[in-house]
Amino acid sequence: MFITLEGPEGCGKTSHIPPLVEFLRGKGYVVFPTREPGGTSISEQIRDILHDLKNVEMHPRAETLLYQAARAQIVEQVIKPRLAAGEIVISDRYYDSTIAYQGYGHRQDLEQVRGLVRYATGGLTPDLTILLDLDVEVGLRRKKQNQSEWNRMDDHEVEFYKRVRAGYLEMVKAEPERWVVVNAERKWDDVQAELKKVIVDRLVKG
Ligand code: TMP
Repeated sequence: MFITLEGPEGCGKTSHIPPLVEFLRGKGYVVFPTREPGGTSISEQIRDILHDLKNVEMHPRAETLLYQAARAQIVEQVIKPRLAAGEIVISDRYYDSTIAYQGYGHRQDLEQVRGLVRYATGGLTPDLTILLDLDVEVGLRRKKQNQSEWNRMDDHEVEFYKRVRAGYLEMVKAEPERWVVVNAERKWDDVQAELKKVIVDRLVKG
């Protein structure tokens, strides 16, 4: 089972993954958490280039391709072998982030971006994708308050993130069987409880 978590800045997905992993391990599942961009030595090096605030001149097409290079590496080196071994892989972002940020956010041609994503992943699609959805301004405020890493991708104007969120919601509409939307504006404990329920339900249903 391949599960991905998606959402705009400040949605809290990174803080939700470790307790989810512990919970599933407690139920006897073998679970492997990972993140994008990153998760392998090569992909982490590419992450550094993508996030570096000094790379202000990066063109959206260069950005799109770098995300795909990082992704191709983690898919082949980590995700496919783990899934083949019967493990649950939970990824903090996957290709839907490219469609949301580079496609909708940067307004790159969606069909071309989808083609690049298919090439990078070799067609590997998640079994379940959870959108941690929240108002863009609430998310950006949270992100600033948390004093977490502030990187080049956090530095766009608010309209960019509004397009990202709208893009996610369109993707949910287009593929409702893969996506589950969780309201991330609630208390952390309530969000965590719903995430556990959504994942367990899907594991039971198969
Ligand atoms: P995060 O570690 O806070 O999730 O930050 C990753 C940033 O990278 C976030 O702003 C979303 C962005 N991103 C893309 O723009 N495209 C992608 O394909 C991925 C995986 C991430």
